[in-house]
Amino acid sequence: MKQLHKSSPTHAPSPAHAPAPKSAKPTRPGPRSWIGYLLREQRLLFVLLGALIASTFFLLRPYLSLTASSHLPDARPLFSFASRSGVPAGFRPPPRRVVVTGGAGFVGSHLVDRLLEQGDSVIVVDNFFTGRKENVAHHLRNPRFELLRHDVVEPILLEVDRIYHLACPASPVHYKYNPIKTYKTNVMGTLNMLGLAKRIGARFLLTSTSEVYGDPLEHPQKETYWGHVNPIGVRSCYDEGKRTAETLTMDYHRGGGVEVRIARIFNTYGPRMCLDDGRVVSNFVAQVCL
Ligand SMILES: NC(=O)c1ccc[n+]([C@@H]2O[C@H](COP(=O)([O-])OP(=O)(O)OC[C@H]3O[C@@H](n4cnc5c(N)ncnc54)[C@H](O)[C@@H]3O)[C@@H](O)[C@H]2O)c1
Repeated sequence: MKQLHKSSPTHAPSPAHAPAPKSAKPTRPGPRSWIGYLLREQRLLFVLLGALIASTFFLLRPYLSLTASSHLPDARPLFSFASRSGVPAGFRPPPRRVVVTGGAGFVGSHLVDRLLEQGDSVIVVDNFFTGRKENVAHHLRNPRFELLRHDVVEPILLEVDRIYHLACPASPVHYKYNPIKTYKTNVMGTLNMLGLAKRIGARFLLTSTSEVYGDPLEHPQKETYWGHVNPIGVRSCYDEGKRTAETLTMDYHRGGGVEVRIARIFNTYGPRMCLDDGRVVSNFVAQVCL
């Protein structure tokens, strides 16, 4: 009998036996799909919000660290930013060991206050000719402070990073009292402190005076002006003494490689100055008050 039903080869296979469809090549998400993704469900808003928070944090970080450390004594950030502009204001200098000759005097005691305030360790060397212990008495309990009675005309050996050489009577009443000693203080004292600076590799600062211009022929005096000085007058121990001190300072710099500074101070006045000091401003105040 003829087979009535013949299974045809074109018969469609059941889904269970269907061959797997050719796998589609994975397509990279194009820029359009990224934008779509960001726009969907306000994701762009979250991205912008995150960027805003991060940038605010990094902008405010220097100010936050300043505030946090300000309650600690001597605690300053190593690197600070000038307010508002965000421009670096400079690195904080590391604490130094410093000697201040004449540190019990008027200018010297204010310098000592400032150095201790910035974290340095300070040794004051003074013979108390015109200086007073009271000017530095408020530092006597400070472990970073030392007070030595010593005359700079005699050599001294100390281990420091910087030397501020102020020792010298500054008022005419005092420097004329013993002019030879004044000259010795300026010449031998400065030689001793420069020798020390060279030996230990310390930076040296000399406090000179506007008196190096003598009776000047130029007004105002520029640093390049060499002065008009009487070498044999009653003030010469001070004027010429300071000129010699400046000469020695520059010779130690050129010949000995010592790093030096010279500050020519003009008439200065303020707290801790004696009323009987004999200088212009104190004389004026004394005459008004007494
Ligand atoms: N104050 C001013 O208007 C002025 C102006 C120009 C220059 N200066 C200079 O500034 C420095 C300080 O002046 P000041 O006004 O504070 O005077 P000051 O007289 O008050 O201080 C001088 C200090 O040096 C000390 N001293 C003096 N001879 C010494 C020695 N041989 N050994 C050790 N210590 C000694 C004194 O005891 C005193 O403490 C001086 O070098 C001075 O020439 C001051």
